[in-house]
Amino acid sequence: YMKANITLIPGDGIGPEIIREAKKVLEAVADAYDHEFIFTEIDMGGCSIDKYGVPLTDEAIEIAKKSDAVLLGAVGGDVGNSRWYDVAPNLRPEAGLLKIRKELGLFANLRPATLYPKLVSACPLKEEIAERGFDMVIVRELTGGLYFGERYTKEVDGVKTAVDTLVYNENEIRRVAKVAFDIAMTREKKKVTSVDKANVLDSSRLWRSVVEEVAKEYPEVTLEHMLVDNAAMQLVKEPRQFDVMLTENMFGDILSDEASMIAGSIGMLPSASLGEGSFGLYEPSHGSAPDIAGKNKANPLATILSAAMLLRHSLGLLEEAQRIEDTVEDVLDSNYRTWDLKSPGIKVLKTSQMGDIVSEWLTEATAID
Ligand code: NAD
Ligand code: IPM
Ligand code: MN
Repeated sequence: YMKANITLIPGDGIGPEIIREAKKVLEAVADAYDHEFIFTEIDMGGCSIDKYGVPLTDEAIEIAKKSDAVLLGAVGGDVGNSRWYDVAPNLRPEAGLLKIRKELGLFANLRPATLYPKLVSACPLKEEIAERGFDMVIVRELTGGLYFGERYTKEVDGVKTAVDTLVYNENEIRRVAKVAFDIAMTREKKKVTSVDKANVLDSSRLWRSVVEEVAKEYPEVTLEHMLVDNAAMQLVKEPRQFDVMLTENMFGDILSDEASMIAGSIGMLPSASLGEGSFGLYEPSHGSAPDIAGKNKANPLATILSAAMLLRHSLGLLEEAQRIEDTVEDVLDSNYRTWDLKSPGIKVLKTSQMGDIVSEWLTEATAID
């Protein structure tokens, strides 16, 4: 029996729809295993701007801090066309997300990308590449780099000029590198590919040397360095070569969207943002998908799989986490998909139906065992 406090952040767009389904699954886990999960919802993003004028209030952050883990949907609106963006950058929806990551010390973002056997046909790569499959985890630095450096726009000699700065210190690099090597040690291939732009950037040269240093403490792990432009290309050429990919904030943001698509859909890719302890924030790697919001169309599996990561990392409920992952695989094996993975011979479910089927099958499977 376990009692745990979980903060839910539905957010904007499809956020509330996918969080509703993940909560259903967590409730099914609680019932099946006799745990007690206490859910508290907070506002973040555009919905918080509408209510309080800021994307994340101090009260909300306190609630998150006091809980055992946070499960987030997504925040943000249509960036080019929304009232939430005619304000200073620190008042926009995404600023709430950056603030919660920073204030909770969540410097390591784990984004596992696996091609499920049943989704091989959904992979946009050539069949012979897709058929060989892949199983990688991207470890993305999350509280440094371009996202958190000084930025401003000003006139220089009458010309509008914008500045963003990319800063890393050796401690920030070392702690996230250790996370990547620790994960590699738990995996079969035990390989870390560190992705940088050391042919141009000072921050990347420091990154490389610190990663080299950390690697010395892990003699069983193979380390390789790769330039980010090549990495983007290698991901679609031969994704199987990657095991653990370690990279800085912005590169990791971009490469993880690429990795999600070769896994079939961005609606499948979960993530965990971790700090020093067991606390974590879990969220799908995708955004608020304003184009399909409110249509009961979004794929909730990335969020449901993020809930599984929450159970494993923050609550230590390994069997329960595995049960969610196995059930998702069973559902895919039975050819149920949401609209984003539509193809011939597939039964297309609504967002809420996908949440129902995962919860029901999980309950049944647990009862049989
Ligand atoms: P997005 O990930 O929201 O959407 C990109 C495309 O993928 C869209 O066509 C969308 O319909 C599709 N998609 C995304 N998630 C899906 C799902 N679960 N099921 C089916 N299809 C899905 O990226 P975007 O359009 O560039 O950004 C939209 C908004 O989301 C922006 O405001 C952005 O800042 C924000 N965003 C938030 C987060 C977050 O909260 N963690 C992450 C990324 C983007
Ligand atoms: C993500 C998102 C965020 C990021 C945005 C919304 C700030 O794209 O979680 O991948 O870039 O980190
Ligand atoms: Mn992103």
